[in-house]
Amino acid sequence: MYRIIDEYRHRGADSPDLLSAMVGSRGEDDDALTDRELRDNVVTFIFGGTETTAALLSWCLYFLGRLPDVERALHDEVDRVLDGRTPVFADVPRLEHTGRIVSEALRLYAPGWIFTRVTLTDTELAGRPVPAGTVLIYCPYLLHRRRDLFPDPDRFHPDRWLNRGSSSAPHSYAPFGIGTRKCIGDVFGRVEATLALAIIASRWRLRPVPNEVVKPRPRMTLVPHPLRMRIEERRPSV
Ligand code: HEM
Repeated sequence: MYRIIDEYRHRGADSPDLLSAMVGSRGEDDDALTDRELRDNVVTFIFGGTETTAALLSWCLYFLGRLPDVERALHDEVDRVLDGRTPVFADVPRLEHTGRIVSEALRLYAPGWIFTRVTLTDTELAGRPVPAGTVLIYCPYLLHRRRDLFPDPDRFHPDRWLNRGSSSAPHSYAPFGIGTRKCIGDVFGRVEATLALAIIASRWRLRPVPNEVVKPRPRMTLVPHPLRMRIEERRPSV
């Protein structure tokens, strides 16, 4: 990492990428970021941007292998919208069902499943006093399965997102966190997952290995484990 940072510093950091932007940026004290700060940011971005998206895609494929109706609707959509092309950013708004599958996988198995916050002032939560400096833990996995917020919460049902608009409770859906520490890559991650899923679905089907019991494994991210699948090539239907 330090070698790459060194190369960027020497060649003037003018590439159109994130490390270039960070090398050329100023911190709160108007100083350039130190090598250590750059390294820490790069590590955070690599971890924050890869494990999470990989876990999300794994859950999408897990459900697609078990729910033929959802898979059929996905195949219909990618065949119709892409017509054999590789999708690009401009296709994302038309990949509606694909996007809903991503939203629903993020609801049932948000890769970031547990978080902490520290209260800065004395406050109150659900009628209980909470002094400043208290560590609070919140869990999107539980929040997203609340029956009062999501009817039939344990069912993987992408179409629940069709009419879910402003009437839903604020902050009831938080796969990317909430507040100032919320994920900076939320849109990027969603777009990346939607495009990756469309590419996979337009060319392959992934079938579950029979009789294998897959369970959620809570590590730094929540992943399906073990998730072995068989790949079959498919041809677009239109
Ligand atoms: C679907 C994929 C992703 C999910 C589910 C996800 C989820 C999250 C969550 C829940 C947080 C913590 C928010 C909080 O504490 O309130 C977070 C933070 C973060 N994410 Fe993401 N993320 C995803 C993709 C990405 C991508 C693609 C990037 C970068 C390109 C990224 C970069 C970050 C960074 C830099 C942080 C902040 C870490 C910090 O404050 O220390 N994430 N993400």
